[in-house]
Amino acid sequence: MAADTERPQAPFGRRLCEVVDSRPTGGYRIFTLVDGQGPAPAPGQFYMLAAAPDWAAEGGRPYLPRAISHARVSENVSGGLRLDFLIHEVGPGTSRLARMGSGDQCWVAGPFGGRFSLPRDLNPAAAGAILVGGGIGIAPMAVLRHELVDRGIPSRSLLGFRDQSHSGGVDELFGCEETRLAFEDGSSGHKGYVTDLLLQLLEGDDAGSAAVYTCGPPAMLEAVRQICLQRSVPVELALESPMACGYGACFGCAVPKADGGYLRLCIDGPVVRGDRIATAMAGEPAID
Ligand SMILES: Cc1cc2nc3c(=O)[nH]c(=O)nc-3n(C[C@H](O)[C@H](O)[C@H](O)COP(=O)(O)OP(=O)(O)OC[C@H]3O[C@@H](n4cnc5c(N)ncnc54)[C@H](O)[C@@H]3O)c2cc1C
Ligand code: FES
Repeated sequence: MAADTERPQAPFGRRLCEVVDSRPTGGYRIFTLVDGQGPAPAPGQFYMLAAAPDWAAEGGRPYLPRAISHARVSENVSGGLRLDFLIHEVGPGTSRLARMGSGDQCWVAGPFGGRFSLPRDLNPAAAGAILVGGGIGIAPMAVLRHELVDRGIPSRSLLGFRDQSHSGGVDELFGCEETRLAFEDGSSGHKGYVTDLLLQLLEGDDAGSAAVYTCGPPAMLEAVRQICLQRSVPVELALESPMACGYGACFGCAVPKADGGYLRLCIDGPVVRGDRIATAMAGEPAID
């Protein structure tokens, strides 16, 4: 029997799923679809999505599907899994996905990639987990937090945002227990970077018993990685890179390893240990 921390495998090919809800949240958008065929995804995995209507309609773009992390999963709903996605509109693909409404169809492939480790697998001395999310990167952190709650593993969440218009999903996906916020513009919570909050937590005894997980913009990921490496705190990062296929065929998602060579982020990641990579500062995404 498969261990419960192995990665769920995607069904072959892509499938059409119905969008059942879409709503604005703090400058982003959450949409929900029902997947009648796929296995329940694990924290850290992602999907390749394309809106069925009008994809490739604007001068041929967006042509390829877009990699999107699930932000929440509810099992045993009528018709299959209910999957929530948190979307930040940065280009034609995310804009088209954000424009889908109830009743629209969405092409879905996945879940792809590997999952976050459990804290004791990352650090045998771990007393719990510290989750550090930034911007749209709070989505995989929310899924991991739910799994840790279900398993009775303590966790603390540190979430950082530029301003209120880039802070969607916090209330709906996290609630307020054990969650601290940082806003660069000081509009709520700590004024400054989320890494300030991480440094506070890692002071004293916490560093030896910590397991850190993070997802967010590359500069934040690299800052978290450096903080953890300097203190010998095990850290896993969910990275982004341009993804054309999502299953290892195109090499578009290659990132440099610390000891030379490359990882294909879609199959070797997107979750990687901080000491396995040379840098979290991936190049500019550029896909069609
Ligand atoms: C594993 C994985 C999980 C992801 N999960 C999510 C998710 O849950 N929600 C989500 O909204 N996106 C997510 N992304 C990012 C998303 O797939 C890319 O941003 C995608 O390229 C957007 O497509 P587009 O056509 O909208 O914009 P593109 O045409 O690809 O990009 C438009 C412009 O925006 C810039 N850009 C691209 N991505 C970003 C970004 N993340 N932030 C700021 N600028 C950017 C590009 O450099 C370009 O200048 C994920 C990516 C990966 C690899
Ligand atoms: S996205 Fe094609 S190899 Fe990773």
